[in-house]
Amino acid sequence: MTRGPITVFGGTGFLGRAIVRELVDAGQTVRIAARHPALPDWAEDGDQLELAHADIRDEASTASALAGASAAVNAVSLYVPTRQASFEAIHVEGASRLARLARRADIERLVQISGIGATPHSDSAYVRARARGEAAVLDALPRAIIVRPSVLFGPGDAFLSTLAGLTRLPLIPLFGQGETRLQPVHVVDVARALIRLLGEPLTERRLFELGGPDVMRYRDILELVLAHRKRDRRLLPVPFVAWRTLAALASVLPNPPLTRDQVILMQRDNIVDDGTGTFDDLGITPRALRESLPECLPPP
Ligand SMILES: NC(=O)c1ccc[n+]([C@@H]2O[C@H](COP(=O)([O-])OP(=O)(O)OC[C@H]3O[C@@H](n4cnc5c(N)ncnc54)[C@H](OP(=O)(O)O)[C@@H]3O)[C@@H](O)[C@H]2O)c1
Repeated sequence: MTRGPITVFGGTGFLGRAIVRELVDAGQTVRIAARHPALPDWAEDGDQLELAHADIRDEASTASALAGASAAVNAVSLYVPTRQASFEAIHVEGASRLARLARRADIERLVQISGIGATPHSDSAYVRARARGEAAVLDALPRAIIVRPSVLFGPGDAFLSTLAGLTRLPLIPLFGQGETRLQPVHVVDVARALIRLLGEPLTERRLFELGGPDVMRYRDILELVLAHRKRDRRLLPVPFVAWRTLAALASVLPNPPLTRDQVILMQRDNIVDDGTGTFDDLGITPRALRESLPECLPPP
């Protein structure tokens, strides 16, 4: 692919790991950058893998992880802010720092992973930070590419394993009526898209939204997981106002199981918008959730 290594920030995370794998399989040297970088368990002697200790809140370690790289991906996440890390520090300042330092290192190709629905007008601090982060990246590096996946699934994901956990309950609470539409996308398909975006020819599009082949209501996804697990359960509609109250109560806990931002996210459809680049533009046919379930959720 390209000559120097490609630095994958967040290369030990769920999406980052899949990106690293696809890049290595394509014969590319990859530098895994994270606060606690580690080789993947599939790594073999001779794989072109480097490790870099980097915190995108820190100028020197971020610059060092980019030194000599030919391209970079920002797959760093923060879903729940902590005392040490705010949405602003990671999704806006961190993303902006990475892009600015990439530009200084003469790296033209940077892919910033964001999320569908990023807008500065949301009442979610998370969604607003994602939008401001995208703008800051493009400001520093106008040829950067923004990739917004819908909810990711795959073996070892958080999404399906959480739903599978819910199927153990006698009654499964829904977000509202469970009508929110999602477009679950296989993590490997998003990683394959990244390979295209980092390779030749350079795309003219700057914004991609990546969703799977099926738009599904939340309740339909739960029904699918229930059928897969051969369980019969009632789904219980719970108004969003109740979820917001629960999230407010949970916010005093050190590791809240539910946050206000997550509730807001579940109130909006998370589906690909017309007018953005999609899998079609990259010549990729994404796989369906229905067919992937046995691979993602083996029998308990
Ligand atoms: N998962 C989904 O369903 C989904 C859907 C849409 C969009 N996305 C987006 O996809 C991206 C990746 O998400 P993910 O679910 O794969 O994340 P993840 O599994 O939580 O992994 C996060 C990665 O970021 C690294 N990291 C965290 N803080 C860091 C920091 N300050 N500096 C450097 N590295 C840091 C972590 O390693 P260390 O802890 O060792 O630093 C880890 O490698 C995010 O932008 C996310 O919003 C995810």
